Amino acid sequence: MARAFAPGKCILFGEHAVVYGQPAVAVSINAGVEICVKRSDSWVLEGMPFEPSRHPHISHILDDIFQYSGVPLEIDVKSGLFSAAGLGSSAALSNAMGAALHELTNPGEKLDLISLARMGHSAEANAQKGRASPTDTATSALGGCIVVSGNRVKGAEHVFDAKLETPDGSRTWSISRAVIPEIDDVWLVLGFTGIGSPTGKMVAGVSKLLKEDPQKMVEIEAIGAITNAGLKALSEGHMEGVGEAMDACHERLRNIGVSCPELESLITAAKGHSLGAKLTGAGGGGCMVSLTREPKRVAECIEIAGGRPLISKFSSGGARILKQEN
Ligand code: MEV
Repeated sequence: MARAFAPGKCILFGEHAVVYGQPAVAVSINAGVEICVKRSDSWVLEGMPFEPSRHPHISHILDDIFQYSGVPLEIDVKSGLFSAAGLGSSAALSNAMGAALHELTNPGEKLDLISLARMGHSAEANAQKGRASPTDTATSALGGCIVVSGNRVKGAEHVFDAKLETPDGSRTWSISRAVIPEIDDVWLVLGFTGIGSPTGKMVAGVSKLLKEDPQKMVEIEAIGAITNAGLKALSEGHMEGVGEAMDACHERLRNIGVSCPELESLITAAKGHSLGAKLTGAGGGGCMVSLTREPKRVAECIEIAGGRPLISKFSSGGARILKQEN
């Protein structure tokens, strides 16, 4: 038997634009996905017969990455993330599955987080019809504050590069760790609209918009510039500046059509007690995020406005193998 955990993520700035090579900054959050795999007589997922076609991330890790041909497995998934909500639940699922399978097939062998991030990215790309940046999977695997960009980012510690053939051409990204001071007086409060929104559909929608109206590329480039400004504020520990960059990023995301009335209403509700607030992830539903010094107050405001709040430390650890329970 093997157990592993991978965290979800919150994109502070740069979602959607990162698919086109602009920078994005994301942090891992406290909540995530835990997977337990054990050898069994038949293939079981969550107590039900496992149907690979209904679980593309898990079957991609099993078949294409590990080329697993051992005895059937019983797979249990515990998720602390809202799903299809912009918190990287599928990336955390892929990473936790990859880590658990690594431990099952190579017990005690060190988990290579870069290989894990690559595995997760491959599973995401497979499920998102070839359009997926490595943001969610790298942040979930490595943990902390991660910068993903088409170019090397000055002032960040380069970790690895990722490449993908997409329907819009070949893409490469540089993945780095942001160098930031200790941040312990500011929290992230995520607010789930209750509307699930598949990332692949939202990413395809932006791609269609840019084809129909190439002028909209200005918004993508503006998100890139805002992300650079936000990253600078973050590295100086200037959290008011980080909040301002989040607000500015949200306006641009709205201009590319990925916000919705439910996100707007949660953002408005949180604004009064936030340094900044925006949608996070793919949009179209899913979650918003507030950066705040008053996490309980913001969580209340989100709840009153009809959302489901989740408070997280500013950033937390990455994917890990969990010790066996006795
Ligand atoms: C989804 O969490 C982030 C997007 O930028 C898609 C991606 O980076 O693959 C919308």
